[in-house]
Amino acid sequence: MPLTVDKGLGNTIAADSGLSFIDGAKGVLEYVGYDIDSLARGSTFEETTWLLWHGHLPTSGELAAFTAQLQSEYEIDPRMMDVVFAIPRTAAPMDALRTLVSALAHFDQEADDASPAANQRKAIRLVAKTATLVALFDRFRKGKAPIRPDRTLSLAANFLWMLTGAKPTDAMARALDVCLVLHADHGLNASTFAARVTIATQSDMYSAATSAVGTLKGPLHGGANQEVMEMLLEIGDLSKVDGYIAGKLSRKERIMGFGHRVYKAYDPRATYLKTFAKKVAADTGNLPLYEMTRRIEEIVLAQPNIIEKGIFPNVDFYSATTYYSLGLDLDLFTCMFAASRMAGWTGHCIEQLAANKLIRPHADYTGPHGLTYQPIEQRTAAGTSSTSPSRNAAMSVTA
Ligand code: ACO
Repeated sequence: MPLTVDKGLGNTIAADSGLSFIDGAKGVLEYVGYDIDSLARGSTFEETTWLLWHGHLPTSGELAAFTAQLQSEYEIDPRMMDVVFAIPRTAAPMDALRTLVSALAHFDQEADDASPAANQRKAIRLVAKTATLVALFDRFRKGKAPIRPDRTLSLAANFLWMLTGAKPTDAMARALDVCLVLHADHGLNASTFAARVTIATQSDMYSAATSAVGTLKGPLHGGANQEVMEMLLEIGDLSKVDGYIAGKLSRKERIMGFGHRVYKAYDPRATYLKTFAKKVAADTGNLPLYEMTRRIEEIVLAQPNIIEKGIFPNVDFYSATTYYSLGLDLDLFTCMFAASRMAGWTGHCIEQLAANKLIRPHADYTGPHGLTYQPIEQRTAAGTSSTSPSRNAAMSVTA
């Protein structure tokens, strides 16, 4: 088959998937056929995770059993605490999480068992323990004693409990739960692709999850929600929004929380979150911050060409104020994204293994060819050779 160049792989289909469907032009996202808006309004993170993994909604008995399985895995092996304590307190939580997700493998006897049943169990462990690890690291870095998980709570409520030591109100737990539902899966995004590339080598699920966490960290992917909040705090007040955004636009700087590689219409995850974030902000005394985001949206969308370019607010734009209103430190925002997307990552790993094929694209070689190797004592200047053919003389593909 002739090779095509597709940098960024934006026009390449690299896998079949039954988890989520995206129509970027129309602004549609479905998990297994269910519109994301209806799931955000009616589902929970536990139910959504089941849906993604099993391809249908659970019965009440199935959901109760699945929730109990997740709850029974909130705890981590006590030896994992040594790993938590070994990380510098100054480490960024996403860096800590990358290390901790990787370390979980050492305390799971099934880490290298690639059977479907073991992979299902590992997926449950990874989803259950990721939020636990984030809360434990945050308390450790602040010099606070760890709090044991509460197996009676939902994953969202348990996280807030372990983070703060206070039982969250139903409204707070639900606010976080909605964010978890909205972030649980999103097609072959960069971190999910990284997970699938890793598992496709027949590596283990912890390695795949570690690749995914490292990939999510980048500001062009999961790190944008933190940058949105930093921008809002830097602006500081509604009266300063217009000048700040005008300056950014005139310098041709990107506005964090806008634009998406796939969506060229309104990000459907942001549609509900926009309304929801207002309620959470109002309930927690953060309405001024929310009003700043609305003004930023108005200004950006009024720019010439911006709608033609398909630049709209993405999920990070409104999740940022929601996390902030829940009292999360800014550098925990992306960790919550990871805690949620772990459901998608592990689901994709299981799906990849069910019909596995090594993922191995090609590079368009742009270097020289046919150079004559010179012993080091005969070289005059680095890389120079009178016989060097010019760069990019030909395209070649390596095996
Ligand atoms: N603000 C202003 N202009 C933008 C923005 C933005 N946030 N995003 C894209 N553009 C403009 C670019 O300047 C470019 O304009 P040009 O054609 O005049 O040069 C055009 O839109 C296309 O930009 P690309 O970078 O080619 O678009 P791409 O699809 O590769 O980028 C991305 C998508 C990386 C998300 C980009 O929109 C961006 O950097 N956004 C800000 C970061 C962000 O919010 N990331 C979170 C994504 S959602 C998620 O991962 C959960």
